Amino acid sequence: MLLNGSTFTSVHDVANLSALIEEGLRVKAAPLAWSNIGRHKTLGLIFFNPSLRTRLSSQRAAWNLGMNTLVVNVGTESWKIEMRDGVVMDGETVEHIKEGAAVIGAYTDILGVRAFATLTDKHADIGENVLSKVQQYACKPLVSLESALRHPLQSFADILTIEEVRREQRMKHRPKVVLTWAPHPKALPQAVANSFAEWMLRADVDLVITHPEGYALDEAFTQGAYITQCQDEALECADFVYAKNWSAFQGNDYGKVLLYDTSWTITAEKMRRTRNGKFMHCLPTRRNVEVADDVLDSSASLVIRQAENRVVAMQTVLKCILENL
Ligand code: CP
Repeated sequence: MLLNGSTFTSVHDVANLSALIEEGLRVKAAPLAWSNIGRHKTLGLIFFNPSLRTRLSSQRAAWNLGMNTLVVNVGTESWKIEMRDGVVMDGETVEHIKEGAAVIGAYTDILGVRAFATLTDKHADIGENVLSKVQQYACKPLVSLESALRHPLQSFADILTIEEVRREQRMKHRPKVVLTWAPHPKALPQAVANSFAEWMLRADVDLVITHPEGYALDEAFTQGAYITQCQDEALECADFVYAKNWSAFQGNDYGKVLLYDTSWTITAEKMRRTRNGKFMHCLPTRRNVEVADDVLDSSASLVIRQAENRVVAMQTVLKCILENL
């Protein structure tokens, strides 16, 4: 058993991380070797927020396993969904999540759900309000396509990417992996950073997190990492540099942009502090804001390989769930 059950919403659903990574590499080596395992099964993909990679990689992964897919973009292609209980629905919302999720569940065998943090209602975000309601009413195996707190498929693809590079480079030492905050004009969720930290702290790497004052992540995700507000110190001798913006998490600043400081942008000059380090980002990224062209366009950039590995991550997770359906 690689997963603890038929849910994949965090690293806590992984029974054996190193075995899951090996399985991912096996799937990547022979993507069509299990092309019948999902025959006559349907993957439902519910998007409450936009996506490029997650949407396409999930469909490609399902098709590689012989599954059909149903995709719905809530609010633009479906009715506007009501999340609150006990309300008089005489406003904008047309369908309640109780019926909406139950109906989608009835049409599908496995469900993927993307539901970002609101960044305004911290209580609802910490409680994974949307994800948990879909799970409750759809009653189907659930895969998170990024929730309020985590992006586990991205983290799985990231760890696969690091493992591939480590093997290719015959790296003997424990890699130093740096998660660095990067500037961004808009308020973004903490999910990718939370999840990356949570997965790296379970992996055979040394994790360093660097961010400006006011941008501390929830300790629940970062405990065990070395954390510094000096980016230059963090980058010293790094093997992997993972850049990502996130908005403030702590206190009344929750969801706010406190700083737009391009001295935190990752440039080729900064990468020279690393040990011939590789650059990582989940994408999408704003060029010359989070990261400079001279890094993204260099051979140090792993961003396309990370995106390719999103198919591998989803296919491996779906395969594990299908094997136990
Ligand atoms: N990295 C990622 O999840 O990309 P999308 O938001 O485009 O799906």
